Amino acid sequence: MTKVIAITGKGGTGKTAVAALLIRYLSKKGKFLLAVDADADTNLPETLGCENVKTIGDAKEFLQVEITNPRPDNPDMNKESILKSKVYEIIEEMPGYDLLVMGRPEGSGCYCYVNNLLRGIMDKLITNYDVVVIDAEAGLEHFSRKIIRDIDDLIVVTDASRRGFRTAERIRELVSELDSNVGNIHVIANKVTDNNRNKIEELAGDLKLSLLGTIPLDSKIEEFDIGGVPLTELPDDSVAVLEIEKIAKKLGF
Ligand SMILES: Nc1ncnc2c1ncn2[C@@H]1O[C@H](COP(=O)(O)OP(=O)(O)OP(=O)(O)O)[C@@H](O)[C@H]1O
Ligand SMILES: [Mg+2]
Repeated sequence: MTKVIAITGKGGTGKTAVAALLIRYLSKKGKFLLAVDADADTNLPETLGCENVKTIGDAKEFLQVEITNPRPDNPDMNKESILKSKVYEIIEEMPGYDLLVMGRPEGSGCYCYVNNLLRGIMDKLITNYDVVVIDAEAGLEHFSRKIIRDIDDLIVVTDASRRGFRTAERIRELVSELDSNVGNIHVIANKVTDNNRNKIEELAGDLKLSLLGTIPLDSKIEEFDIGGVPLTELPDDSVAVLEIEKIAKKLGF
């Protein structure tokens, strides 16, 4: 059975960093892994050291144009197989895992038909992997469109701010309204220092949010990010790497 983990939270809290750390851990453990960037801003590839990726958004746009202006020489094109081959083309083979980028939001017009096809393709694709790690956005766009239907663990990343925790609360509400299949919702507090650790645990308790772990403020992450070095290359003894190991174990790995 494939385990699907999605990471969401307020902007700038560290969703992409947490996704990269989990990808690092799980690929080193030998899991057959698909990393998905489901944020329209598309930061995960760079954080993983991958440049110039094609996106599902481009593939959808391509098919949408073909549907709106069918070519006279090919009126009976098989739309599903076109989209499927585009999706498989887009998958980037990284060392130890695969990467798929959702990309830009939809243009104007109705994408229901294309999204329907995509949903079926994604359902099948996901079953090829042990784990899928999704770097999502707070609005959970791809989940509200049910492109990725079932999530086993939804992780909300927050920083040490009240606003970050409020976003976690809102996401919990959104998930219950979405009627999507989410197994567990957890919170990871990121960029934690000795000064705010107690307050964070208190806030999580007050809001009845299950705190999966607290990742310390790690100067190595800042250093790697600013230097353009992939976070998957962080050393084994970096404090954030050590904490993500504990978190992954709690998730059953
Ligand atoms: N534990 C940490 N210690 C130090 N810096 C961190 C940590 N986690 C993330 N950062 C830094 O915080 C910034 C934001 O991180 P990141 O891009 O992962 O957040 P995000 O939630 O994905 O942002 P966005 O909403 O823009 O997608 C980056 O500069 C990153 O280097
Ligand atoms: Mg991000």
